[in-house]
Amino acid sequence: MNQEFSLSQSKYSNTSAPVMVVTGGAKRIGAAIVRAAHEQGYRVIIHCHHSEQEANVLADALNNSRPDSAVVIISDLAVVNNSQTLQRFTRNIMQAFGQLDVLVHNASRFYPSPLGNINHAQWDELFLTNAKAPLLLSQALYPYLRAQQGCIISLLDIHAHNKPFKNYAVYNMAKAAHRMMVQSLALDMAPDVRVNGVAPGVNILPEADSDQALHPQQQKSIIDSIPMQRIGKPEEIAHSVLYLARASYVTGEIIAVDGGRSLTLAGGHV
Ligand SMILES: NC(=O)c1ccc[n+]([C@@H]2O[C@H](COP(=O)([O-])OP(=O)(O)OC[C@H]3O[C@@H](n4cnc5c(N)ncnc54)[C@H](OP(=O)(O)O)[C@@H]3O)[C@@H](O)[C@H]2O)c1
Repeated sequence: MNQEFSLSQSKYSNTSAPVMVVTGGAKRIGAAIVRAAHEQGYRVIIHCHHSEQEANVLADALNNSRPDSAVVIISDLAVVNNSQTLQRFTRNIMQAFGQLDVLVHNASRFYPSPLGNINHAQWDELFLTNAKAPLLLSQALYPYLRAQQGCIISLLDIHAHNKPFKNYAVYNMAKAAHRMMVQSLALDMAPDVRVNGVAPGVNILPEADSDQALHPQQQKSIIDSIPMQRIGKPEEIAHSVLYLARASYVTGEIIAVDGGRSLTLAGGHV
């Protein structure tokens, strides 16, 4: 990425603005990262899978405020399982604006895999989204990121290291692999491309209508366990992502954005 990138939007004509792609960027934390990056002058590529409608609404709003500044790319990350589909996906990303400065791995699946019921489908899906796709996409986009002296930022989890969620063995393992990807690629891609991670605690609750929804008592016990005494906000994750995008001497680093939860966490339940 251009070392002279600053927070000022006015510095850029739209065609010189840096470009960020956010996987799973249509909703929730991904959308907060997209909005924050756009606010700071980035052109944004919003990748999504099922949330096409939300992605288009977001892109329309951003393009209304700054023309030709947001593009939607729709794809299952399973494209990385085949070299031709991965190549096509990479080409689509690069054709959006002709350059890439920041790759944000945000897309993820999150659900329990209780012992006794762990199966191949869970393994494939949780490892695909949380580890394999980030690695293969990073590799495929590396030449373009290198050309811009760009960076990769991965959304991890405070439970990816030493403090596993009970009943989430496969998710925990996949995020731990992703965490090691950040540290490994930080070495392998230096000095051209920086690779860092942000580890949320609880920064947005599972949606109320999802099978992961938490009832009020669970929410209260989570809040009680957080030194900052509240659930975090997606914007607080976005803030750290944007910091890492500009932190020109930081690589291989993982920032916990968890209100201090990792200090009190004993492992165990969500
Ligand atoms: N929420 C938290 O407090 C929290 C805590 C710890 C870690 N994190 C991490 O922070 C990141 C964002 O969290 P979140 O809760 O906002 O994420 P999320 O809503 O669970 O998922 C983000 C997006 O991932 C996309 N996705 C899932 N499977 C996909 C596939 N096969 N192909 C393409 N896209 C796929 C979905 O896109 P579509 O909707 O378009 O299908 C989804 O909207 C994740 O990496 C998560 O693990 C979050």
